[in-house]
Amino acid sequence: MKPEKLNLESMNIPDHKKQLLKEAFPEVFGEGDKVDFEKLKAALGEQVEQPGKERFGLSWAGKSKLIQIIQEQSRGTLRPAKEESVDWDTTENVFIEGDNLEVLKLLQKSYLGKIKMIYIDPPYNTGKDFVYPDDFSDSLKNYFEITGQTDSEGKKITANPESSGRYHSNWLNMMYPRLFLARNLLSDDGVIFISIDDNEIANLRKICDDIYGEDNFIACIIWQKKQSPQNDASYFSAMHDYILVYAKMAKVNRSATMGFERYLFPREEEQNMRYSNPDNDMRGPWASVDCTCNKTSIERPNLYYPIINPKSKKEILPSTQRVWRYEKKSMQILLKENRIWWGEDGNNFPRQKRFLSEVQGGIVPSTWWEREFASDNQTARREIRSLFKEGEGDFDTPKPTRLISRMMQLSMKDDIVLDFFAGSCTTAHAVLDLNKEDGSSRKYIMVQLPEPYSEDSESFKAGYKTIADIGKERIRRVIKTIKKEKKGKLDLEDNRQDLGFRVYKLDTSSFKQWQAKTDDGEKAVADKIDMFVDPFIQKRTPEDILAEIMLKSGFELSVKIEEQKIGKKKIYSVSDGALLIYLEDEITEDIIKAVAEKEPHQFICLDVAFHKRDDLKANAVLTFKSRKNADGTPKTIFKTV
Ligand SMILES: C[S@@+](CC[C@H](N)C(=O)[O-])C[C@H]1O[C@@H](n2cnc3c(N)ncnc32)[C@H](O)[C@@H]1O
Repeated sequence: MKPEKLNLESMNIPDHKKQLLKEAFPEVFGEGDKVDFEKLKAALGEQVEQPGKERFGLSWAGKSKLIQIIQEQSRGTLRPAKEESVDWDTTENVFIEGDNLEVLKLLQKSYLGKIKMIYIDPPYNTGKDFVYPDDFSDSLKNYFEITGQTDSEGKKITANPESSGRYHSNWLNMMYPRLFLARNLLSDDGVIFISIDDNEIANLRKICDDIYGEDNFIACIIWQKKQSPQNDASYFSAMHDYILVYAKMAKVNRSATMGFERYLFPREEEQNMRYSNPDNDMRGPWASVDCTCNKTSIERPNLYYPIINPKSKKEILPSTQRVWRYEKKSMQILLKENRIWWGEDGNNFPRQKRFLSEVQGGIVPSTWWEREFASDNQTARREIRSLFKEGEGDFDTPKPTRLISRMMQLSMKDDIVLDFFAGSCTTAHAVLDLNKEDGSSRKYIMVQLPEPYSEDSESFKAGYKTIADIGKERIRRVIKTIKKEKKGKLDLEDNRQDLGFRVYKLDTSSFKQWQAKTDDGEKAVADKIDMFVDPFIQKRTPEDILAEIMLKSGFELSVKIEEQKIGKKKIYSVSDGALLIYLEDEITEDIIKAVAEKEPHQFICLDVAFHKRDDLKANAVLTFKSRKNADGTPKTIFKTV
C-alpha cells in the first residue's frame, strides 16, 4: 500500500475544464471518463453550431498554438525572499518577481476563483515597447535568458516594432493566454479592468469577448490622461486611454443573486455641501429638487391637478408643458410629511425636499473619467518622483493611484486585487492609500518581470537593476510614509493596517525528481540521480521547499506558517494546522502516530524519510485511513513528495 504522491505540476487546465463540464453535464461522461460528444450535442439541442459554417471571429498568426501554451504545465516554483519582504509573518500582501504567464499558471491551484478584482496595464504595443516572447518548449530557460539571469549571453530585450510582419500577432499571442488564465482566478463576482489605447483596443475587445464572453462586457471607460493637447501631433493629439471592463459573470438582471455587483462611488464632501437645513427639519440636511416633469408625447391627466399652497391657500398648477412627478395621492403624502418646500417666505413654486440621509449611498459610475476625477499621467509621474530622489525612480509609464482607487471603489472592499503587469506597483500604492482612507482591508498580489534597466540609467546607478526592484522599493517607501503618518497610533483598532508584503521569486522547482523528469523522461530519473539520498537541488532552503509544497497543495502564498516540534523533530504547521509538512530525512512510527492525532487536513512528508521501508509506508497509509469523518472520508490526506 503506497501513499499518494504530491503532484508538483501546476494545475492541469483540461482536467479543470472537464470537471466544470462534469458538474453541468454528468450524463455526457461515458466509458473511461471521456466526453461523449454525441450525448453533449443532444444535451445542448438547438444550441449547437452546425459544422463547417462560416464563423465570425478574429484570427491571427499563432492563434492555433495558444491552447498548447495555456495547457503546458509549469515546472517552476515561487521562492520566498524574506530579506526583501516587510512583516513576513503577519502580512497578506504579495509581490512576485517573474514572468506573469508562468506565475499565473503557478497561482491556479491556490487562487482559483478567489480574486475579486484584476487590474492590468499591459504594454500598449506602441511599436516601442517590449512584448514578452513566450517559448513554451522551455519557458523557464527562456525567462532566465530574457531577464539576463543566465551565465550565457542571454536574449536581448527588444521592442516589438511596427515594421515586424507579426506586429499585432505577437501582441495577441502574448495577451491571449494570460487573459485566459487570469479569468480562472476571478471569483464568480469578480471583475477585470484593462488599460489600453488605440493601438490595440479593437483587438483587445475581440479577444476579451472570446475569453470572457460578450455578455460579460461591462463598460469601455474613457479616461482623460492629459491636461493639454500636444501641438506637434501629426493629426490629433490623443488625450485619453481606454479601460475595458469585463465581469467573470455579469448579472442576468438587476435582482439576480449571482455575478458581479458594482458598488457606487462615495459621495464627495463637495456634493454633500449642496445640502442644507434652512427650516431646521429633524431629518437633517436636504436639497430641493424639481417635482415636475415633461408631459412627454403621452397625455398624463392623472399627473395634472392643482395643489394648495398652505400659506396663501391658492391653487397651484404645473406650467402647461409640464406635469407633477407624482400622482395626487403620493403628492398628498409628501405635503403631509413636510417634504414640499415653498421657499423661505412660503410663496415660491413648490419643490421637493430630498434628504441627504435618504439619497443613494453614492454616485453611479459613468464611462467618462475626467482627470479631476481620476487624475492623470502627469500626476502619476509626480507621485513616483515624490517618493524617490531626482532620477532614481525612473519609470516611464506609471498610472496615477487615484485611477486605480476609482476601480477598487467600484468593485472590492476586503478582497484581493491582482495586477500582473505591475510596473512600478501603483496598484499596491493605491491599495495602501485607499485602505488608509476608508479603513477597508484590501490585499494585493503584484507580479512584475525583473525587466533589466540599462546600465547607464539613473535607476541602475542608484542600485535598482530592474523594474521589479523599483516596484518593491516603491511599496517599502509608501509603507514608511504611512507608518510615519500613523506614528504611535498603529496599534489602535481604527488605525490597524496591513503594512507588509511577502516577496516571492519565480525559479525552477526545488525537487530534483521533477527537474530531471522534464529533461530526460521519467525512467532515466532513478538511474541518473540518487534521489534517495537528497531529493532537493543544491542551495535550496527549507523555506523554498515549504513554499513549493504549499503552493502545489493549493495553499495561498500569504498563509501563516509555524514551526512546531514532535519530540526533537521539526514539523511545519501551515494555516493553523490545516497542512502539516515534515521535511526531516527520517520518519518513525511514533511520529506518524503523533501527526495522525493532530488530525490535519493534509500531511506531507518526504518519500526518502521512509528509507525504502515499504512496511512503514503501508502502516502510515493505514494509520491515516483509519481516522474517519462522519461521512466516511479520512480525516487526513497523506501524501509524500
Ligand atoms: C505599462 S507597464 C505597467 C505600469 C504600471 N501600471 C504602473 O503604474 O507602474 C507594463 C509592465 O509590464 C511588465 N511586463 C511586460 N511583460 C511582462 C511579463 N511577461 N511578465 C510580467 N511583467 C511584464 C513590464 O516590465 C512593464 O513594467
